[in-house]
Amino acid sequence: MGEVAGDNDVIIVHAGRLIDPATERVLADQYLTIENGLIAAVSSNRPSSGTIVDLSEKTVLPGLMDAHVHLTSRHDQHGYRRLRSTPASSAINGVVNAHTTLMAGFTTVRNLGAQGYADIALRDAINAGLVPGPRMLASGPSIGITGGHCDMNLLPAQYKAKAGGVADGPWAVRAKVRENIKYGASVIKFCGTGGVLSKGTTIGAQQFTFEEMSAIVDEAHALGLKVAVHAHGSDGIKTAIKAGVDSVEHASLIDDEGLRLAKKNNTTLSMDIYVSDFILAEGEAAGILPESLAKERIVGRQQRERFQAAHRAGIEIAFGSDAGVYRHGLNARQFAYMVEWGMTPMEAMKAATSVTADLFGLSEVTGRVSPGLAADLIAVDGDPLSDIRLLEGVTFVMKDGVIYKDE
Ligand code: ARG
Repeated sequence: MGEVAGDNDVIIVHAGRLIDPATERVLADQYLTIENGLIAAVSSNRPSSGTIVDLSEKTVLPGLMDAHVHLTSRHDQHGYRRLRSTPASSAINGVVNAHTTLMAGFTTVRNLGAQGYADIALRDAINAGLVPGPRMLASGPSIGITGGHCDMNLLPAQYKAKAGGVADGPWAVRAKVRENIKYGASVIKFCGTGGVLSKGTTIGAQQFTFEEMSAIVDEAHALGLKVAVHAHGSDGIKTAIKAGVDSVEHASLIDDEGLRLAKKNNTTLSMDIYVSDFILAEGEAAGILPESLAKERIVGRQQRERFQAAHRAGIEIAFGSDAGVYRHGLNARQFAYMVEWGMTPMEAMKAATSVTADLFGLSEVTGRVSPGLAADLIAVDGDPLSDIRLLEGVTFVMKDGVIYKDE
């Protein structure tokens, strides 16, 4: 872990180049004054006192944010291997993966789905300074229909296996939202269609009725939390947008009507357009079921095309990777795909900073380089505006003013 600055210590970060994606500003030779974990000032004049952190040969930008991770999961434990995982093993995975994720430059993440509230325990341990990791929003168990993508469908009936977030009917789902919040959830996640990696579900099939989705969203919003829906198929996506979700995860087969609805309702899309390459190349060795590989072959390419269409339509697109399905710490691999499929490097960086901060309701906390916000900063060698892949090799990480990596 990095050095902890005492309350009176002032750090001056000398940035050779500073990129603030929110404003699209690129400035040379900037001095960022860091006090009490916050950015106190940004100036081209060198302040007279403070401990200098010399990043004069590097490009500095706000800490990256990922709207969709599973810190408690492992990339090599898919299919029936998932039966080995317990809330305890999930928590241990989380400790390891939170560290890896932070070191990769992701200073804030949203964990969408974990068993046994292992994600909540992890978030609280990070906040208490017990273990290093990113600032976390955590959902607890994902809410889903019986037999749906968010249920556990690997065992035959006599075992009566059921995932923690399973509920059917408007009042039952409201109760699940309340239960998740009772145990510490800071965001609500539900499954609105089948999925790739779940057994026996169909990607195109909607899960939950409009009535159930509306109940989840209404309850969550009334209690002050945002809602993320897992949805691949166009019907489930559109029903969820109409029900008022804040973000659609995957959004793989969103049709033009869905794009219009998203635009009208200000719904953010979080499209994990890298993970397909991992699933198709390494998924079988990682235990992914043949039926899931078959589903991925249908959905992967189309999702990238729909990402391009969504971007052209001017829809807010956050950076959501689904890391955990693939190896933690490789989150940034998705940037190159976002650029290949239509974003400028600046837009891709904005997606992973200010757009995601806005989605999280954290725009007053992080995601930008401006006074009063958390000192969440990363640095890379070279200019990511000309080579976005440089973000895969972050050499400096500061979170809340604490340096965790300085190579
Ligand atoms: N967790 C997701 C699911 O099982 C992963 C989808 C990955 N594929 C993709 N093309 N994004 O549905």
